Amino acid sequence: MAPSRDTATLSESSLVLEEASKRRTFAIISHPDAGKTTLTEKFLLYSGAVQEAGAVKAREGRRRATSDWMAMEQQRGISITSTAIQFRYLDHVLNLLDTPGHRDFSEDTYRVLAAADAAVMVLDVAKGIEAQTLKLFEVCRARRLPIITFLNKLDRPGRPPLELLDEIQAQIGLRPTPVTWPVGIPGDFRGVIDRRSGQFVRFTRTTRGSTVAPEELLSADQAAREEPQAWPLAKDEVDLLTAVGSSLDLPSFLAGDSSPVFVGSALTNFGVHHLLQALVGLAPPPSPRPDTTGAPRPLQAPFSGFVFKIQANMDRAHRDHVAFVRVCSGRFERGETVIHQPSGRPFSTKYAASMFGADRNTVDEAYPGDVVGLVNATELRIGDTLYAAEPVTYPAIPTFAPELFATARPQDTSRYKQFRKGLSQLEQEGVVQVLHDPEGDPAPILAAVGEMQFEVLSHRLSSEYGAPVRLTLTPHRLARRTDAGTALALRSTRGVKVLRRTDGTLLAAFESPFWLDHLHGEHPEWVLDSILTD
Ligand code: G4P
Repeated sequence: MAPSRDTATLSESSLVLEEASKRRTFAIISHPDAGKTTLTEKFLLYSGAVQEAGAVKAREGRRRATSDWMAMEQQRGISITSTAIQFRYLDHVLNLLDTPGHRDFSEDTYRVLAAADAAVMVLDVAKGIEAQTLKLFEVCRARRLPIITFLNKLDRPGRPPLELLDEIQAQIGLRPTPVTWPVGIPGDFRGVIDRRSGQFVRFTRTTRGSTVAPEELLSADQAAREEPQAWPLAKDEVDLLTAVGSSLDLPSFLAGDSSPVFVGSALTNFGVHHLLQALVGLAPPPSPRPDTTGAPRPLQAPFSGFVFKIQANMDRAHRDHVAFVRVCSGRFERGETVIHQPSGRPFSTKYAASMFGADRNTVDEAYPGDVVGLVNATELRIGDTLYAAEPVTYPAIPTFAPELFATARPQDTSRYKQFRKGLSQLEQEGVVQVLHDPEGDPAPILAAVGEMQFEVLSHRLSSEYGAPVRLTLTPHRLARRTDAGTALALRSTRGVKVLRRTDGTLLAAFESPFWLDHLHGEHPEWVLDSILTD
């Protein structure tokens, strides 16, 4: 983004601080079908990035696409990256990071959350928190990521919203604090009470929500006259929320302990405007990121960032390899040579892009919170730090304890070389973890958090490397990081397999969680860590 005439006169560090303060970098997390894609579209509509939303849908095509956004891009003729969409709202710059729209967990999603400063949790009011995505919400909780909750689909019948608040509290331990509250029941939704002003915000539908929904502001007295049934009910519920102390609490939101709740319907655009305002008004701007020693790197320090995602072969014609970097400090300038911390070698940022898909736009500048795609950066790995001038090392992105394991063999042994090459590249991208049994079968054992990771690997090995794989699941269901001493003791224990990851990390894979608990109880001195840091 080019500095405006006004900012050009500011000194470099105040420019960086000013640009950083405008950034909001967030991810939308939701169960598939809760409305993440619809909400994304509506954000673009409200930001003026698209004029009309929902006119073209082609859902089936979209489902099959590797990224929902790539297909959206084709439909709408707008350029958005499959990793981050950047759009302006009011005088802010919002970076919306894509969490893959898989019907399954994947480690990729977790890594994207490491690059976000906040998350929007979208819940379908008819479904609440669904077991499949519970883990995702727990990760946000564990990272103490500030979460804004959006109760979606109030235009159709659903569960009582108060019940959903209980569920959020009980299942993820996050204290919900509604900022807006529905007037009318799910299915007969008229608008919201804005608890900050006590006003009734009445929404009017537009056809399939293709244009911005008109909003009218009514005082409490007017609302009571015009909505004689729905208004008193909503008021009672709001009084109850106030009585139990469920009110917006900024410090605890920023600490990841409470979550401001907004209600609406992404399809009809109800509540989208409030949600966007909350993102700029409540969600935090980028803050100084702590390095491995715990010392925060000031935002205005020279450029630094870390790689949170690697994607190869996005452009099949060029067999490319793109490393996505989240900028943490300073101003990124394309063409500048920075240092790749792990190797200590200079790295040229000549091929920096912000947008992918049909068009790839080069990015000339970026500020803390922004995402830059470095093309053909084959030496970069997930978690690597890049910096200019003053050295810094950011902590590794945690990898998560795998829950699925499979032995991998090439279907066609004459393609063994391609198989090994593909496996190694896909491992670098973080598609799966690759392990070996130091004492047994030499075939690699692949480990993943979700089944989708295996599907992606199989598909890519055969389509990109011409080396179809045969995967045989092992009976192991969970893993813990261990050390050499414990590994030695575990070798003679049944129901456990000790495996070594390519980076040398030792993992103990267990067939049953009960067995793990049992062993841990018997041998509390054994090292069995649940989150595996690189
Ligand atoms: P996802 O990305 O989280 O998977 O969800 P997506 O936005 O694709 O939405 C899933 C389905 O839910 C879509 O319906 C979408 O139109 C619908 N939806 C999203 N938000 C709302 C809402 O606020 N109210 C209602 N009633 N529906 C909503 P679909 O039938 O799968 O597709 P389509 O035929 O509507 O395109």
